[in-house]
Amino acid sequence: MCGIIGIVNKTDCVKGMLTALSKLEYRGYDSSGVATITNNKIDYRKVQGKLANLKELIYNKPLAGNIGIGHTRWATHGEPSNKNAHPFVKRNCALVHNGIIENYLDIKKSLANQKIDYKSSTDTEVVAELMNYLIEDGATPLEAMKEITTRIEGNYALVFLLKNSNNLYFSRKGSPLVLGLSKSLNCVASDTLALPNHIDKVIYLEEGDIGEIGNGQAKIFDQSFKVKKNVIHDHISLQSHTSKNQYKHFMIKEIHYQSKSIDDTLLNFAKKNDNKVYLPQFKFDTKKINNLSLVACGTAFHACMISKYWFEEISKINTLVEIASEYRYRENSVNDKTLGVLVSQSGETMDTIKCLEKMKRQNINTASIVNVLGSSLTRDSDYILPTLAGPEIGVASTKAFTAQLTVLALLCIHIAQKKGIFNESTKKITNDLFTIPGNIKLILKNEKTYSDIAKDLIEAKSIFYVGRGPMYPLALEGALKLKEITYKHCEGYAAGELKHGPLALIEDSVPVVVLAPSDKYFNKTISNIQEIKARGGEIILITDKEGAKKSSGLADKLISLPDSNLLTAPILYSIPVQLIAYHLATLLGTDVDQPRNLAKSVTVE
Ligand code: F6R
Repeated sequence: MCGIIGIVNKTDCVKGMLTALSKLEYRGYDSSGVATITNNKIDYRKVQGKLANLKELIYNKPLAGNIGIGHTRWATHGEPSNKNAHPFVKRNCALVHNGIIENYLDIKKSLANQKIDYKSSTDTEVVAELMNYLIEDGATPLEAMKEITTRIEGNYALVFLLKNSNNLYFSRKGSPLVLGLSKSLNCVASDTLALPNHIDKVIYLEEGDIGEIGNGQAKIFDQSFKVKKNVIHDHISLQSHTSKNQYKHFMIKEIHYQSKSIDDTLLNFAKKNDNKVYLPQFKFDTKKINNLSLVACGTAFHACMISKYWFEEISKINTLVEIASEYRYRENSVNDKTLGVLVSQSGETMDTIKCLEKMKRQNINTASIVNVLGSSLTRDSDYILPTLAGPEIGVASTKAFTAQLTVLALLCIHIAQKKGIFNESTKKITNDLFTIPGNIKLILKNEKTYSDIAKDLIEAKSIFYVGRGPMYPLALEGALKLKEITYKHCEGYAAGELKHGPLALIEDSVPVVVLAPSDKYFNKTISNIQEIKARGGEIILITDKEGAKKSSGLADKLISLPDSNLLTAPILYSIPVQLIAYHLATLLGTDVDQPRNLAKSVTVE
């Protein structure tokens, strides 16, 4: 899918643009290009094929300038070629564009008496010619932007470089754009992942926004050309993920970071209040996909298990979830309606990579949800959905897990939208995703509650986590987290499964953490709590206000979390689960960030 970068710098911007374009490579592309302006002259380089070709071209035929725009193109109108690559450079302007201008032929007709010699078969070149014409006709850049955005129809993110101007001009509708601001440079990009490292503020543009950025300034206007004040978000540089700052361990820093990583992941792909998800478009017809094969290891596998409940309930799609080390050797059957989804923080897990290879041999479409861009998985999958958790240093995965859940939730909504089965109730729960960051902050305010629970677990020989529905895989994750960093025996079970065996292990004072929001499973879980209590088990119930009311007196310890729904509950309930493991580990004095026998990236079978 196409990617955009535009930079206004105090010094040369070409190297910065090439770095940004390489961060956008994961989206898939078939040509690329950059344009700059120096001494009021626009110059450009563009090529078909890999970014390495563009870098080589610039090495042999250097390009310079403090202001520039760059693009990676994935062909829609016109074949992949040099002439169809962006930017489109005209006498007065250069343009990069993501999306599709549906009425470009009408616009072309309206410019007919200009006798334009079009060089490409793209919709974008027509919009560049429209800008050129408007500027020659005497319009100011902003007047021209206004005229263009009222005349074009379709989905777009546009960034113009103009002669006689020190600014870049942009607009978006149906295709994301984000501004990155810092003391030394300002930029505009299709994706926060493309932003230079030292950017410290980020503004997500809203539908219909028009604007300009220059050196030390950025202005955004609404469609009636009133100046707007969009929310400014902090942007955390990659380097700051690798120091502990005021935290004792990376793990607790990463637990606290989750309100930010989830916010970043959501804002990169969705917009509050319009219930729409803007994932880069699949290269295959989403409507035709009728089954998913989700494959991963460890914590990432638990994220997949949780999302099965979402895909089946919201996207109405059959979903198989499997541990990668099993999937790779199994004689499974797939068909041309199968989408293989691989989930991995590192993108380097050997078993998961081998499953990708197997899926490719089976000729099915593949999409990978990965935190480390440039990793093996991102190089070979058909389609990449990045998690925006930032580098994860603690061996026990926390922020990558909730970012994986967030992307899986967005993918689920995307499929439902494409299949046309997105109703009022699914719209509401989509919008509720945006309540997660604030609710995580609320949970973290009560961190002492979890260190108190951890104190009571110090002596326990064995601990259980149970839940139903999406809380069942989260119970598995809770047990894994606890085992990994405390070295205590801990088991996760589907609450309804206890009576089929594990109940034999419940005796006086065995702690059982029950994850139970007041959802459709709640009353059944209460029955399971009764079974545990009848055998002397100690109940630590994590629920919400309604659940607290309904379970009155049953639990030995009760934690009430903010209200949640099918999509938000597993993400919110992850936080207590992680905090209990973390605080117990610190009380026991284990090596929290580098637990024994484990590695952050598992590149062996
Ligand atoms: C547990 C944990 C592991 C990883 C697993 C897969 O806290 O981190 O279980 O989830 O090794 O790793 P990735 O996600 O890198 O493929």
